Amino acid sequence: MESKVTPWEVKGNIDYDKLIKEFGVSAIDDKILQRIKKHTKELHPFLRRKIFFAHRDLNFILDQYEKGNKFFLYTGRAPSGPVHIGHLVPWLFTKWLQDKFDVELYFQFPDEEKYLFKDNLGWEDSQKYLQENMLDVIALGFDPKKTKFIIDTQHANLLYPEAIKVAKRITFSTVKAAFGMSNETNIGSIFYTAMQAVPAFLPSVLKKKEIPCLIPHAIDQDPHFRVSRDVIPKLGHYKPASIQCRFLPGLRGLEEDGKMSSSEAATAIYTTDDAKTIKNKINKHAFSGGKDTVEEHRKLGGNPEIDVSYQWLMFFEEDDKKLEKIYKEYTSGKLLSGELKALLIEKLTAFLLEHQKKRKDAAKNISKFIL
Ligand code: TRP
Repeated sequence: MESKVTPWEVKGNIDYDKLIKEFGVSAIDDKILQRIKKHTKELHPFLRRKIFFAHRDLNFILDQYEKGNKFFLYTGRAPSGPVHIGHLVPWLFTKWLQDKFDVELYFQFPDEEKYLFKDNLGWEDSQKYLQENMLDVIALGFDPKKTKFIIDTQHANLLYPEAIKVAKRITFSTVKAAFGMSNETNIGSIFYTAMQAVPAFLPSVLKKKEIPCLIPHAIDQDPHFRVSRDVIPKLGHYKPASIQCRFLPGLRGLEEDGKMSSSEAATAIYTTDDAKTIKNKINKHAFSGGKDTVEEHRKLGGNPEIDVSYQWLMFFEEDDKKLEKIYKEYTSGKLLSGELKALLIEKLTAFLLEHQKKRKDAAKNISKFIL
């Protein structure tokens, strides 16, 4: 299947090296990893494993930081459905950055985005998922003193005066080219990227002091920032920097689902799935790189590169040694596909049950996070 990566559609088996060239981002290399490590002491597994694989202007952020000019973090989530474990990847990393660099985070919930872009999402649905999705973000343990939620329709008074300044400097033809829109696209969608640009400099406006911005996000969001990075300096603010991750593949594997999708329940694991559902989904649907018969598998070994359980463990098993052992045993044939699935089920269930506890607790704290 030919792959496609836009902010509203991701499909096929994605070649991330090719994306680096196509999008014009820089690869995360060992040099920049060492530079990060100087400040963080250790590297998050997502960095060690190049799950965060690309960036724009990260050296600028570190230059400023080293001069004592702290940055703020900006990321977001457009409510459109329940949160799945793939959504958590950039947020988990953002939380790590917040802790390591001791910086503020502005988290945008553009509650109009998916309402505008999806035919089948009503306004009430968007508002329901907004509440639900905030719980998942809070459950990850962000510090309420350093974290501010921006909700587009609730903070319109702050966002709109800045969004028009951005919008005035972006033409329809730029938006068409960057996002593949046409004359039939609704006008709310055409305007939307201006709203996503604003939190990248809003803290500078609110604090009347220019503050550098670092945006951790999944690579599909890059077109937004490619466009707004040209505009924001014209408004007198720093050009925002970004660090980008690849996608957690869906249950049916890289070929079929290069990115987990919430609209296909059988390919996603939701943060609210119970232990039995997690187990059933993985056992039933997780694409296996194992061989057809035990005999053959023992002889030839499995292929972790295409095996969803192994691929997911790369995201969720922090221990490099454990992961390496699994890799060796799976490729040698010692570890069977069912056994590998069992390891993933155990890891993921423990993580999600803990998340669900914190998620329940989060409800009473929502107001502490809203700007
Ligand atoms: N467009 C993103 C989504 O579809 C939401 C979002 C808003 C975002 N601002 C962001 C994502 C900044 C990453 C970084 O969910």
